[in-house]
Amino acid sequence: RTVRIIGAPTDYGANRRGVDMGPSAIRYAGLAEQLENAGVVPEDAGDLPVPRAEERDPEANQPTEGHAKFLRETEEVSTRLADDVADALADDVTPLVLGGDHSVAIGSLVGSARDADIGAIWFDAHGDLNTPTTTPSGNVHGMPLAAGLGIADFGGVEWANAPGLRPENVALVGLRSLDDAERELIRSTDLTAFTMSDIDERGITDVVDDALAVATDGTDGVHVSLDLDWLDPKEAPGVGTPVRGGVSYREAHSALETVAHSESLRSLEVVEVNPILDEHNETAELATELAASALGKTIL
Ligand code: ARG
Ligand code: MN
Ligand code: MN
Ligand code: MN
Repeated sequence: RTVRIIGAPTDYGANRRGVDMGPSAIRYAGLAEQLENAGVVPEDAGDLPVPRAEERDPEANQPTEGHAKFLRETEEVSTRLADDVADALADDVTPLVLGGDHSVAIGSLVGSARDADIGAIWFDAHGDLNTPTTTPSGNVHGMPLAAGLGIADFGGVEWANAPGLRPENVALVGLRSLDDAERELIRSTDLTAFTMSDIDERGITDVVDDALAVATDGTDGVHVSLDLDWLDPKEAPGVGTPVRGGVSYREAHSALETVAHSESLRSLEVVEVNPILDEHNETAELATELAASALGKTIL
C-alpha cells in the first residue's frame, strides 16, 4: 500500500515548546526508509502551514464555559488536517500524521471518520479525555479524544466532532495518568480502557487483541493514535509529559505488530515527539520504527 505522510508541526496544544519540531525530527530519523522496509510506498505530502505561536493570542476564541489555549489555531489546523486525511483515504492511500502535540488527533479523527464508521486505539499514558471545563491545564493535547467523541464542548462548534466514532469502538491502552473527570468519564461511558496493570497481568498481545476487537466491531477500520509518552520515559525521553512505568521497547513493537496483523489499520498518527527534550533523536527514531511495525514490517 501507499502511505501519505502529513506533517502537523503544532505545539499549541502542549505546555512545552519544541514538539512542533516533531515532524522534522521524525523525517530526519529515517521515516521514509523505515516505511520502505515495511514494504509500503511512502509519499511525503509535506507539512501543514502552522503559524508560530508567538504571533498568536493563546486566549483568543475561548469557549463560553471553560478554557482551552490556542483554540482558534487548533480549529484552523484541525480543519485542514481533517481535509487532508479524508483526501488521502479517498485516494486509497493510508494517512500517516506526524505531530506535533496530541491536539492534532482532532483533525485525524474527524478526517478518518468523515465518510466512515471508525474505531480508535489510543496508545497513551494519558486519557486525553478532558474538556475545556474539566481540564487542569487548558492544554488541548489533553482533550482530543473527548473532542472527537463530541464530549468536549468547544463553544458549540462542530469542527472537532467525529460522528463516525462511537465510544463503544474506542479502546485506550496503557493508561497510568488520569485526571478525576477522565476517570469518571471512562466509568460512565462505553469506552474500553486498559491500564498498565492490565498489560502487566495479561500481556500486551492479549490486551491489544481485545482493543482491536473493540475497535473493529462494526467499523470500516481503525485509527491508531500513538503518543510516544505511552512508552517508558527510559525508552522515549523526548516527550513533554513523561510518566514513569510505561511499556517497554519490545511491548510497543509487539502491540503495533498485532495491529498490522489485524489488517484493519485505516489511519495512523505518531505524536508528542519533542526533539528539544530528546536524547540523540532516539524518540523520533522509535516513532519511525513503530510506524513501520504498524504498517507491516517483519523480520522474516
Ligand atoms: N491530563 C493532563 C492534561 O489534561 C495531561 C495530558 C497530556 N496529554 C498528552 N497528549 N501528552 O493536561
Ligand atoms: Mn500522553
Ligand atoms: Mn454508556
Ligand atoms: Mn496523548
